[in-house]
Amino acid sequence: MKNILITGGAGFIGCHVVKLFVQNYPDYQIINIDNLTYAGNLENLTAIENAPNYTFIKADICDQQKLKEIFETYQIQAVVHLAAESHVDRSITNPFEFANTNIMGTLTLLNQAKISWCSNFEDKLFYHISTDEVYGSLGDEGFFLEDTPYDPKSPYSAAKASSDHFVRAYHNTFGLPVVITNCSNNYGPNQFPEKLIPLFINNIKNSKALPVYGKGLNIRDWLYVEDHARAIDIVFHKGKIGDTYNIGGFNEWTNIDLIKVICKVMDVKLRRAEGTSEKLITYVTDRAGHDKRYAIDATKLKDELGWEPSLQFEEGIHKTIDWYLNNEEWMQRIVNGAYQEYYNTQYNR
Ligand code: NAD
Ligand code: DAU
Repeated sequence: MKNILITGGAGFIGCHVVKLFVQNYPDYQIINIDNLTYAGNLENLTAIENAPNYTFIKADICDQQKLKEIFETYQIQAVVHLAAESHVDRSITNPFEFANTNIMGTLTLLNQAKISWCSNFEDKLFYHISTDEVYGSLGDEGFFLEDTPYDPKSPYSAAKASSDHFVRAYHNTFGLPVVITNCSNNYGPNQFPEKLIPLFINNIKNSKALPVYGKGLNIRDWLYVEDHARAIDIVFHKGKIGDTYNIGGFNEWTNIDLIKVICKVMDVKLRRAEGTSEKLITYVTDRAGHDKRYAIDATKLKDELGWEPSLQFEEGIHKTIDWYLNNEEWMQRIVNGAYQEYYNTQYNR
Protein backbone atom coordinates (compact mmCIF):
# COMPACT_ATOMS: atom_id res chain seq x y z
CA MET A 1 0.00 0.00 0.00
CA LYS A 2 1.30 3.41 -0.91
CA ASN A 3 -0.15 6.80 0.02
CA ILE A 4 0.67 9.14 -2.83
CA LEU A 5 0.17 12.88 -2.87
CA ILE A 6 -0.37 14.25 -6.38
CA THR A 7 -0.37 18.04 -6.67
CA GLY A 8 -2.16 19.92 -9.45
CA GLY A 9 -4.30 16.89 -10.28
CA ALA A 10 -7.25 18.99 -11.48
CA GLY A 11 -5.16 20.54 -14.26
CA PHE A 12 -4.47 19.27 -17.75
CA ILE A 13 -1.61 16.79 -17.26
CA GLY A 14 -2.42 16.19 -13.61
CA CYS A 15 -5.90 14.83 -14.35
CA HIS A 16 -4.47 12.22 -16.72
CA VAL A 17 -1.84 11.23 -14.15
CA VAL A 18 -4.43 10.98 -11.36
CA LYS A 19 -6.75 8.87 -13.54
CA LEU A 20 -3.92 6.52 -14.53
CA PHE A 21 -2.74 5.99 -10.93
CA VAL A 22 -6.26 5.60 -9.48
CA GLN A 23 -7.33 3.14 -12.17
CA ASN A 24 -4.12 1.11 -12.54
CA TYR A 25 -3.13 0.87 -8.87
CA PRO A 26 -6.15 0.04 -6.70
CA ASP A 27 -3.78 -0.64 -3.76
CA TYR A 28 -2.48 2.92 -3.78
CA GLN A 29 -4.32 5.72 -2.02
CA ILE A 30 -4.20 8.76 -4.27
CA ILE A 31 -4.57 12.13 -2.54
CA ASN A 32 -4.95 14.90 -5.07
CA ILE A 33 -4.38 18.44 -3.82
CA ASP A 34 -5.17 21.39 -6.00
CA ASN A 35 -6.26 24.92 -5.09
CA LEU A 36 -8.41 25.14 -8.25
CA THR A 37 -7.00 28.22 -9.94
CA TYR A 38 -8.55 29.19 -13.28
CA ALA A 39 -6.72 26.14 -14.74
CA GLY A 40 -7.96 23.59 -12.22
CA ASN A 41 -11.20 21.87 -13.11
CA LEU A 42 -12.77 19.02 -11.12
CA GLU A 43 -14.86 18.14 -14.18
CA ASN A 44 -11.63 16.63 -15.54
CA LEU A 45 -11.85 13.95 -12.86
CA THR A 46 -15.47 12.79 -12.92
CA ALA A 47 -14.38 9.34 -14.19
CA ILE A 48 -12.67 8.54 -10.87
CA GLU A 49 -14.16 10.98 -8.34
CA ASN A 50 -15.98 8.22 -6.43
CA ALA A 51 -13.20 5.64 -6.55
CA PRO A 52 -12.43 4.18 -3.07
CA ASN A 53 -8.70 4.86 -3.46
CA TYR A 54 -9.11 8.54 -4.37
CA THR A 55 -9.38 11.69 -2.23
CA PHE A 56 -9.49 15.29 -3.39
CA ILE A 57 -8.46 18.14 -1.08
CA LYS A 58 -8.62 21.78 -2.08
CA ALA A 59 -5.28 23.06 -0.84
CA ASP A 60 -2.58 25.50 -1.81
CA ILE A 61 0.97 24.13 -2.08
CA CYS A 62 2.18 27.39 -0.49
CA ASP A 63 0.13 26.68 2.68
CA GLN A 64 2.64 25.00 5.01
CA GLN A 65 0.15 24.31 7.81
CA LYS A 66 -2.30 22.60 5.45
CA LEU A 67 0.50 20.50 3.92
CA LYS A 68 1.61 19.41 7.40
CA GLU A 69 -1.94 18.27 8.21
CA ILE A 70 -2.21 16.37 4.92
CA PHE A 71 1.16 14.62 5.32
CA GLU A 72 0.22 13.57 8.85
CA THR A 73 -3.40 12.58 8.21
CA TYR A 74 -2.69 10.53 5.11
CA GLN A 75 0.80 9.29 6.04
CA ILE A 76 2.12 10.44 2.68
CA GLN A 77 4.96 8.28 1.35
CA ALA A 78 5.45 9.75 -2.11
CA VAL A 79 4.78 13.04 -3.88
CA VAL A 80 4.16 13.55 -7.59
CA HIS A 81 4.36 17.32 -7.98
CA LEU A 82 2.63 18.90 -10.96
CA ALA A 83 0.95 21.99 -9.46
CA ALA A 84 2.23 25.12 -11.14
CA GLU A 85 1.32 28.22 -13.05
CA SER A 86 1.93 26.88 -16.55
CA HIS A 87 1.17 29.45 -19.27
CA VAL A 88 4.09 31.45 -20.69
CA ASP A 89 1.93 34.42 -21.82
CA ARG A 90 0.48 34.81 -18.33
CA SER A 91 4.00 34.71 -16.86
CA ILE A 92 4.87 37.74 -18.98
CA THR A 93 2.01 39.75 -17.48
CA ASN A 94 2.28 38.39 -13.94
CA PRO A 95 5.75 37.04 -13.12
CA PHE A 96 5.31 37.32 -9.33
CA GLU A 97 2.47 34.82 -9.28
CA PHE A 98 4.72 32.37 -11.14
CA ALA A 99 7.59 32.88 -8.70
CA ASN A 100 5.23 32.38 -5.78
CA THR A 101 3.55 29.17 -6.96
CA ASN A 102 6.35 27.53 -8.90
CA ILE A 103 9.27 28.43 -6.62
CA MET A 104 7.80 29.04 -3.16
CA GLY A 105 5.12 26.37 -3.58
CA THR A 106 7.71 23.77 -4.58
CA LEU A 107 10.02 24.80 -1.74
CA THR A 108 7.17 24.61 0.80
CA LEU A 109 6.29 21.12 -0.42
CA LEU A 110 9.92 19.93 -0.40
CA ASN A 111 10.42 21.22 3.10
CA GLN A 112 7.24 19.58 4.37
CA ALA A 113 8.30 16.25 2.86
CA LYS A 114 11.67 16.57 4.58
CA ILE A 115 10.09 17.44 7.96
CA SER A 116 7.28 14.87 7.81
CA TRP A 117 9.58 12.07 6.69
CA CYS A 118 11.97 12.97 9.58
CA SER A 119 14.98 12.14 7.42
CA ASN A 120 13.75 8.55 7.28
CA PHE A 121 13.71 8.42 3.51
CA GLU A 122 13.48 4.70 2.92
CA ASP A 123 10.66 3.93 0.44
CA LYS A 124 9.94 7.64 0.04
CA LEU A 125 9.98 9.64 -3.20
CA PHE A 126 9.58 13.27 -4.23
CA TYR A 127 8.92 13.28 -7.98
CA HIS A 128 9.04 16.74 -9.57
CA ILE A 129 7.44 17.31 -12.99
CA SER A 130 9.20 19.95 -15.04
CA THR A 131 9.55 21.30 -18.54
CA ASP A 132 12.03 21.37 -21.42
CA GLU A 133 11.77 25.18 -21.36
CA VAL A 134 14.35 25.29 -18.54
CA TYR A 135 17.02 24.51 -21.17
CA GLY A 136 16.24 27.69 -23.12
CA SER A 137 15.94 27.86 -26.88
CA LEU A 138 17.60 25.85 -29.65
CA GLY A 139 18.73 26.94 -33.10
CA ASP A 140 18.04 24.80 -36.17
CA GLU A 141 20.24 21.94 -34.95
CA GLY A 142 20.62 19.87 -31.79
CA PHE A 143 18.48 18.53 -28.97
CA PHE A 144 18.04 19.08 -25.25
CA LEU A 145 19.81 16.37 -23.24
CA GLU A 146 19.62 15.78 -19.50
CA ASP A 147 22.95 17.58 -19.03
CA THR A 148 22.15 20.56 -21.27
CA PRO A 149 22.93 23.66 -19.16
CA TYR A 150 19.91 25.55 -17.85
CA ASP A 151 19.16 28.78 -19.73
CA PRO A 152 15.51 29.70 -19.04
CA LYS A 153 14.25 32.71 -20.93
CA SER A 154 10.67 33.46 -19.81
CA PRO A 155 9.43 34.21 -16.29
CA TYR A 156 7.60 30.84 -16.44
CA SER A 157 10.70 28.85 -17.34
CA ALA A 158 12.88 30.86 -14.92
CA ALA A 159 10.49 29.91 -12.11
CA LYS A 160 10.40 26.25 -13.19
CA ALA A 161 14.21 26.19 -13.47
CA SER A 162 14.48 27.60 -9.96
CA SER A 163 12.10 24.93 -8.66
CA ASP A 164 14.23 22.21 -10.33
CA HIS A 165 17.32 23.64 -8.61
CA PHE A 166 15.58 23.55 -5.22
CA VAL A 167 14.60 19.92 -5.78
CA ARG A 168 18.22 18.97 -6.55
CA ALA A 169 19.44 21.08 -3.62
CA TYR A 170 17.16 19.13 -1.23
CA HIS A 171 18.57 15.90 -2.61
CA ASN A 172 22.17 17.06 -2.35
CA THR A 173 21.89 18.78 1.03
CA PHE A 174 19.35 16.70 2.95
CA GLY A 175 19.35 13.43 1.03
CA LEU A 176 15.69 13.78 0.03
CA PRO A 177 15.00 11.04 -2.54
CA VAL A 178 14.02 12.95 -5.67
CA VAL A 179 13.55 12.37 -9.35
CA ILE A 180 12.87 15.01 -12.02
CA THR A 181 11.45 14.75 -15.52
CA ASN A 182 11.54 17.54 -18.11
CA CYS A 183 8.94 17.15 -20.81
CA SER A 184 8.15 18.81 -24.13
CA ASN A 185 4.79 20.32 -25.20
CA ASN A 186 1.78 18.18 -24.32
CA TYR A 187 -1.48 18.09 -26.23
CA GLY A 188 -4.71 16.17 -25.80
CA PRO A 189 -8.06 16.26 -23.96
CA ASN A 190 -8.72 18.62 -21.02
CA GLN A 191 -6.12 21.28 -21.88
CA PHE A 192 -7.15 24.82 -20.96
CA PRO A 193 -7.95 26.78 -24.15
CA GLU A 194 -5.23 29.38 -23.60
CA LYS A 195 -2.67 26.93 -25.03
CA LEU A 196 -2.16 26.79 -28.81
CA ILE A 197 -3.98 23.58 -29.77
CA PRO A 198 -7.26 23.84 -27.78
CA LEU A 199 -7.39 27.61 -28.37
CA PHE A 200 -7.17 27.14 -32.13
CA ILE A 201 -9.65 24.23 -32.20
CA ASN A 202 -12.16 26.35 -30.30
CA ASN A 203 -11.57 29.44 -32.43
CA ILE A 204 -11.96 27.47 -35.68
CA LYS A 205 -15.19 25.97 -34.39
CA ASN A 206 -16.48 29.49 -33.70
CA SER A 207 -15.01 30.97 -36.90
CA LYS A 208 -12.79 33.31 -34.90
CA ALA A 209 -9.35 34.61 -35.91
CA LEU A 210 -6.35 32.30 -35.27
CA PRO A 211 -3.67 34.53 -33.70
CA VAL A 212 -0.30 33.22 -34.91
CA TYR A 213 2.60 34.85 -33.07
CA GLY A 214 5.31 36.34 -35.30
CA LYS A 215 5.79 34.38 -38.52
CA GLY A 216 4.62 31.07 -37.07
CA LEU A 217 8.08 29.57 -37.55
CA ASN A 218 8.81 28.68 -33.93
CA ILE A 219 9.20 24.95 -33.38
CA ARG A 220 7.75 22.77 -30.64
CA ASP A 221 8.03 19.01 -29.98
CA TRP A 222 4.53 17.67 -29.28
CA LEU A 223 3.63 14.68 -27.10
CA TYR A 224 0.18 13.20 -26.47
CA VAL A 225 -0.68 13.78 -22.81
CA GLU A 226 -1.46 10.12 -22.04
CA ASP A 227 2.02 9.17 -23.25
CA HIS A 228 3.41 11.71 -20.77
CA ALA A 229 1.28 10.19 -17.99
CA ARG A 230 2.59 6.75 -18.92
CA ALA A 231 6.18 8.04 -18.77
CA ILE A 232 5.47 9.49 -15.31
CA ASP A 233 4.16 6.09 -14.18
CA ILE A 234 7.35 4.39 -15.40
CA VAL A 235 9.72 6.94 -13.86
CA PHE A 236 7.75 6.88 -10.59
CA HIS A 237 8.24 3.12 -10.32
CA LYS A 238 11.62 2.58 -11.94
CA GLY A 239 13.44 5.93 -12.07
CA LYS A 240 16.81 6.17 -10.38
CA ILE A 241 16.82 8.38 -7.28
CA GLY A 242 18.61 11.68 -7.93
CA ASP A 243 18.31 11.31 -11.71
CA THR A 244 16.71 13.45 -14.38
CA TYR A 245 14.90 12.06 -17.44
CA ASN A 246 13.85 14.03 -20.51
CA ILE A 247 10.48 13.16 -22.04
CA GLY A 248 9.56 14.14 -25.60
CA GLY A 249 7.60 13.12 -28.63
CA PHE A 250 10.37 13.03 -31.29
CA ASN A 251 7.73 15.08 -33.09
CA GLU A 252 8.79 18.58 -34.13
CA TRP A 253 6.47 21.00 -35.90
CA THR A 254 6.69 24.66 -36.86
CA ASN A 255 3.61 26.35 -35.43
CA ILE A 256 2.31 27.27 -38.86
CA ASP A 257 2.58 23.72 -40.23
CA LEU A 258 0.85 22.36 -37.15
CA ILE A 259 -1.89 24.98 -37.43
CA LYS A 260 -2.46 24.08 -41.08
CA VAL A 261 -2.91 20.41 -40.13
CA ILE A 262 -5.47 21.40 -37.48
CA CYS A 263 -7.25 23.61 -40.03
CA LYS A 264 -7.47 20.77 -42.57
CA VAL A 265 -8.76 18.22 -40.06
CA MET A 266 -11.30 20.72 -38.71
CA ASP A 267 -12.61 21.49 -42.21
CA VAL A 268 -13.30 17.78 -42.69
CA LYS A 269 -14.83 17.20 -39.27
CA LEU A 270 -17.02 20.32 -39.43
CA ARG A 271 -17.96 19.56 -43.06
CA ARG A 272 -16.73 22.94 -44.22
CA ALA A 273 -15.21 23.61 -47.63
CA GLU A 274 -11.48 22.87 -47.85
CA GLY A 275 -9.49 26.01 -46.97
CA THR A 276 -12.22 27.60 -44.82
CA SER A 277 -10.28 27.37 -41.53
CA GLU A 278 -6.95 28.51 -43.01
CA LYS A 279 -8.58 31.80 -43.95
CA LEU A 280 -8.86 32.52 -40.19
CA ILE A 281 -5.06 32.58 -39.78
CA THR A 282 -4.01 36.03 -38.58
CA TYR A 283 -0.39 36.93 -37.92
CA VAL A 284 -0.12 38.98 -34.73
CA THR A 285 2.65 40.61 -32.68
CA ASP A 286 5.14 38.01 -31.50
CA ARG A 287 5.30 36.80 -27.90
CA ALA A 288 7.99 38.78 -26.02
CA GLY A 289 11.20 36.72 -25.84
CA HIS A 290 9.57 33.92 -27.85
CA ASP A 291 11.81 30.81 -27.70
CA LYS A 292 12.64 29.67 -31.24
CA ARG A 293 12.82 25.91 -30.95
CA TYR A 294 12.46 23.14 -28.36
CA ALA A 295 13.42 19.56 -29.14
CA ILE A 296 13.91 16.79 -26.62
CA ASP A 297 16.23 13.82 -26.93
CA ALA A 298 14.41 11.20 -24.85
CA THR A 299 16.90 8.41 -25.56
CA LYS A 300 17.87 7.99 -21.90
CA LEU A 301 14.29 7.23 -20.90
CA LYS A 302 13.95 4.82 -23.81
CA ASP A 303 17.26 3.01 -23.18
CA GLU A 304 17.12 2.86 -19.39
CA LEU A 305 13.41 2.50 -18.64
CA GLY A 306 11.93 1.34 -21.95
CA TRP A 307 9.51 4.23 -22.52
CA GLU A 308 8.57 5.44 -26.00
CA PRO A 309 5.65 7.53 -27.25
CA SER A 310 2.89 5.14 -28.29
CA LEU A 311 0.70 7.39 -30.38
CA GLN A 312 1.53 8.77 -33.82
CA PHE A 313 0.79 12.49 -34.13
CA GLU A 314 -1.80 11.94 -36.88
CA GLU A 315 -3.87 9.72 -34.56
CA GLY A 316 -3.26 11.94 -31.53
CA ILE A 317 -4.47 15.10 -33.23
CA HIS A 318 -7.62 13.36 -34.50
CA LYS A 319 -8.37 12.02 -31.00
CA THR A 320 -7.74 15.47 -29.53
CA ILE A 321 -9.96 17.32 -31.98
CA ASP A 322 -12.72 14.73 -31.54
CA TRP A 323 -12.54 15.14 -27.77
CA TYR A 324 -13.01 18.93 -27.93
CA LEU A 325 -15.81 18.63 -30.47
CA ASN A 326 -17.57 16.00 -28.33
CA ASN A 327 -17.11 17.94 -25.09
CA GLU A 328 -18.58 21.24 -26.07
CA GLU A 329 -20.10 21.85 -22.63
CA TRP A 330 -16.71 21.43 -20.95
CA MET A 331 -15.35 24.14 -23.25
CA GLN A 332 -18.44 26.33 -22.93
CA ARG A 333 -18.25 26.42 -19.14
CA ILE A 334 -14.62 27.58 -19.36
CA VAL A 335 -15.03 30.23 -22.01
CA ASN A 336 -18.12 31.68 -20.34
CA GLY A 337 -16.23 32.71 -17.20
CA ALA A 338 -13.21 34.91 -16.51
CA TYR A 339 -11.70 33.54 -19.73
CA GLN A 340 -13.34 36.35 -21.72
CA GLU A 341 -11.42 38.98 -19.81
CA TYR A 342 -8.14 37.09 -20.29
CA TYR A 343 -8.84 36.64 -24.00
CA ASN A 344 -9.60 40.32 -24.58
CA THR A 345 -6.47 41.44 -22.74
CA GLN A 346 -4.24 38.94 -24.53
CA TYR A 347 -5.54 39.26 -28.08
CA ASN A 348 -7.35 42.58 -28.47
CA ARG A 349 -4.53 44.90 -27.46
P1 NAD B 1 -2.26 23.39 -15.80
O1 NAD B 1 -2.10 24.86 -15.73
O2 NAD B 1 -3.25 22.82 -16.73
O3 NAD B 1 -2.58 22.81 -14.35
C1 NAD B 1 -1.94 23.28 -13.19
C2 NAD B 1 -2.76 22.82 -11.99
O4 NAD B 1 -2.08 23.27 -10.81
C3 NAD B 1 -4.17 23.42 -11.95
O5 NAD B 1 -5.11 22.43 -11.64
C4 NAD B 1 -4.09 24.47 -10.84
O6 NAD B 1 -5.32 24.67 -10.18
C5 NAD B 1 -3.04 23.85 -9.93
N1 NAD B 1 -2.36 24.85 -9.09
C6 NAD B 1 -1.82 26.03 -9.50
N2 NAD B 1 -1.32 26.68 -8.44
C7 NAD B 1 -1.53 25.90 -7.34
C8 NAD B 1 -1.26 26.03 -5.96
N3 NAD B 1 -0.65 27.12 -5.48
N4 NAD B 1 -1.61 25.03 -5.13
C9 NAD B 1 -2.24 23.93 -5.60
N5 NAD B 1 -2.55 23.75 -6.89
C10 NAD B 1 -2.20 24.73 -7.76
O7 NAD B 1 -0.79 22.84 -16.09
P2 NAD B 1 -0.34 21.55 -16.93
O8 NAD B 1 -0.15 21.94 -18.33
O9 NAD B 1 -1.18 20.42 -16.56
O10 NAD B 1 1.13 21.35 -16.30
C11 NAD B 1 1.32 20.54 -15.14
C12 NAD B 1 2.80 20.51 -14.80
O11 NAD B 1 3.52 19.97 -15.90
C13 NAD B 1 3.40 21.89 -14.54
O12 NAD B 1 4.33 21.75 -13.49
C14 NAD B 1 4.08 22.25 -15.84
O13 NAD B 1 5.18 23.11 -15.61
C15 NAD B 1 4.53 20.89 -16.32
N6 NAD B 1 4.66 20.73 -17.77
C16 NAD B 1 3.65 21.08 -18.62
C17 NAD B 1 3.79 20.85 -20.00
C18 NAD B 1 2.69 21.20 -20.97
O14 NAD B 1 2.91 21.09 -22.18
N7 NAD B 1 1.50 21.57 -20.52
C19 NAD B 1 4.98 20.29 -20.48
C20 NAD B 1 6.00 19.96 -19.58
C21 NAD B 1 5.84 20.17 -18.23
O1 DAU C 1 7.62 22.93 -23.75
C1 DAU C 1 6.81 22.64 -22.65
C2 DAU C 1 5.90 23.82 -22.37
O2 DAU C 1 4.93 23.84 -23.39
C3 DAU C 1 5.24 23.74 -21.00
O3 DAU C 1 6.22 23.80 -20.01
C4 DAU C 1 4.25 24.88 -20.82
O4 DAU C 1 3.57 24.74 -19.57
C5 DAU C 1 3.24 24.82 -21.95
O5 DAU C 1 2.35 25.91 -21.84
C6 DAU C 1 3.95 24.86 -23.31
O6 DAU C 1 4.55 26.14 -23.55
P1 DAU C 1 4.47 26.86 -24.99
O7 DAU C 1 4.65 28.31 -24.78
O8 DAU C 1 5.35 26.19 -25.98
O9 DAU C 1 2.92 26.49 -25.39
P2 DAU C 1 1.75 27.38 -26.04
O10 DAU C 1 0.65 26.42 -26.32
O11 DAU C 1 1.45 28.59 -25.24
O12 DAU C 1 2.39 27.84 -27.41
C7 DAU C 1 2.87 26.92 -28.37
C8 DAU C 1 3.46 27.71 -29.52
O13 DAU C 1 2.41 28.41 -30.20
C9 DAU C 1 4.44 28.79 -29.09
O14 DAU C 1 5.49 28.89 -30.03
C10 DAU C 1 3.63 30.07 -29.09
C11 DAU C 1 2.62 29.83 -30.20
N1 DAU C 1 1.31 30.48 -30.01
C12 DAU C 1 0.65 30.28 -28.85
C13 DAU C 1 -0.57 30.86 -28.61
C14 DAU C 1 -1.30 30.64 -27.29
C15 DAU C 1 0.76 31.26 -31.01
O15 DAU C 1 1.33 31.44 -32.09
N2 DAU C 1 -0.46 31.86 -30.78
C16 DAU C 1 -1.15 31.70 -29.62
O16 DAU C 1 -2.25 32.28 -29.46
